[in-house]
Amino acid sequence: MISIKTSNEIKTMRRGGRILAVTLKELSNIAKPGMKLSKIDKIAHDLITKSGGQPSFLNYNGYPGSMCASINDEVVHGLPRETKLRDGDIFSIDCGVYFEGYHTDSAITIPIGKIGKDAINLISITRNALYKGIDIIRPGIYLGDVSAAIQREVESAGMGVVKDLVGHGIGKELHEEPQIPNFGKRGTGIILREGMTLAIEPMVTLGRPEIKVGKDNWTIFTVDGSLSAHFEHTICVTKEGSEILTK
Ligand code: MF3
Ligand code: CO
Repeated sequence: MISIKTSNEIKTMRRGGRILAVTLKELSNIAKPGMKLSKIDKIAHDLITKSGGQPSFLNYNGYPGSMCASINDEVVHGLPRETKLRDGDIFSIDCGVYFEGYHTDSAITIPIGKIGKDAINLISITRNALYKGIDIIRPGIYLGDVSAAIQREVESAGMGVVKDLVGHGIGKELHEEPQIPNFGKRGTGIILREGMTLAIEPMVTLGRPEIKVGKDNWTIFTVDGSLSAHFEHTICVTKEGSEILTK
């Protein structure tokens, strides 16, 4: 069942999403060469709780952090460990806020110091893919239209779209129906309706799109060792189109 949110529920998610957006902005400002991932996680935790929210990820299926910290060939779910950021890294921060009974979820990938041309391109294509997906959303279109728009942006740039992980509905639960693949066919899947709240999250690789789980049983890596980027917003379907709740 796909839950349709009332305008009051969306109001609450907008407030939680705002806390999350401010948190991600702050974290991106402090992420510098030499900064420990565990320290960034601690700051994320403090920013969220001081704003009246709770970190959605902390203890989710036993997850030990308030955010995911994924570097270079780590696609998602990197643990906020004692490792320090280094000049030339690309750094994905994925974070969720639980506020007054509702989750929001968002991710960004940022350069640490000076990064290569390929990495810059990867980041910009991944961000563009997210917005290509969001931009076509309005009531009455198919979910497959969104998936296809994301896939097209990525693959026409010669990059890989991760197929083994998906976006998702979101609200009272961090992961609700429907699953939102970042690849697919137009005119397939469910029809979007006003009041649906969705976390759209393309994960893109510079090389092959296959992924593997690391020894820590959390971190997801590219199989070929190529760089990967991830952007995510929580949006709601509105009468006219969509609204980004995590901005
Ligand atoms: N942000 C992830 C998602 O979009 C959730 C992370 S799950 C956690 O589905 F366990 F790592 F927290
Ligand atoms: Co998500």
